[in-house]
Amino acid sequence: MYILQYNGANMNRRLYHPTDARRILNPGTVAIITTNWRGETNAAPVAWTAPLSMEPPFVGCVIHPGRHTADMIRFSEEFALNIPGPRLLKETAFLGSYSGKDENKIEAAQLETFKSFKIEAPLLEHCLAWVECGLRDVIPIGDHTLFVGEVLQVQAIEEAYAENWQLKDHSLKPLSFLGGSIYAQVDNLQNVEFETDEHGVLISENAEERERREENEALEHDARLKEGDEGYEEMELNAPSTNAEQAE
Ligand SMILES: Cc1cc2nc3c(=O)[nH]c(=O)nc-3n(C[C@H](O)[C@H](O)[C@H](O)COP(=O)(O)O)c2cc1C
Repeated sequence: MYILQYNGANMNRRLYHPTDARRILNPGTVAIITTNWRGETNAAPVAWTAPLSMEPPFVGCVIHPGRHTADMIRFSEEFALNIPGPRLLKETAFLGSYSGKDENKIEAAQLETFKSFKIEAPLLEHCLAWVECGLRDVIPIGDHTLFVGEVLQVQAIEEAYAENWQLKDHSLKPLSFLGGSIYAQVDNLQNVEFETDEHGVLISENAEERERREENEALEHDARLKEGDEGYEEMELNAPSTNAEQAE
């Protein structure tokens, strides 16, 4: 365990197991993969997805070979990624807890579907976006398999996605999966601009940003003093100085 300074507070830097890398990288957009093979349909959520190529447009899904979805993709050579919002949170967790080998999960979850444009797999109503793919490649990787899909069609609800996620409304934000039964939503759209100095070194805080930060810190300090936050003054007095302060 290492103690470090983060945002002016003491925090612990801990070592984790190598398999924790998967959860550290997890908060991507959850997709529910739908498949169809000879009239049998299935749906299962995946968190391990990635764009792989712009032109031609390829996306990848990493799926355990034991999943019914892995067989369905191998046999049908196509799949759709349905991007759920919070309205389908329970359905997402349900679809990820049972196998389509044993039951028709789309029926059990009472999910409404509609026809895709280019493939046989059904698309799920009440999602925010849909990506139809033809299977391009199957690459075994460790204990999982990377399914590479060539994107054939993309649709999205315009209020939710217009060249990037709009994040306007809770109900229109995609889900991220943090592991176990914990989900989150991407929040707080930020437009970033940065400057470099004459040596090409990043200026992490310009004069205006510094002034704004110091004003906010002063306001927060006053608010806490007014509230009589227990131990706050003591904590401030004992806090070690930051690297920036030391450098000055
Ligand atoms: C949010 C969520 C994300 C998941 N991501 C993946 C994944 O990326 N790859 C995978 O193989 N399984 C993943 N799973 C597990 C499968 O969805 C789960 O094993 C499911 O029951 C498989 O269904 P199937 O046998 O019908 O394909 C995830 C589960 C949940 C709930």
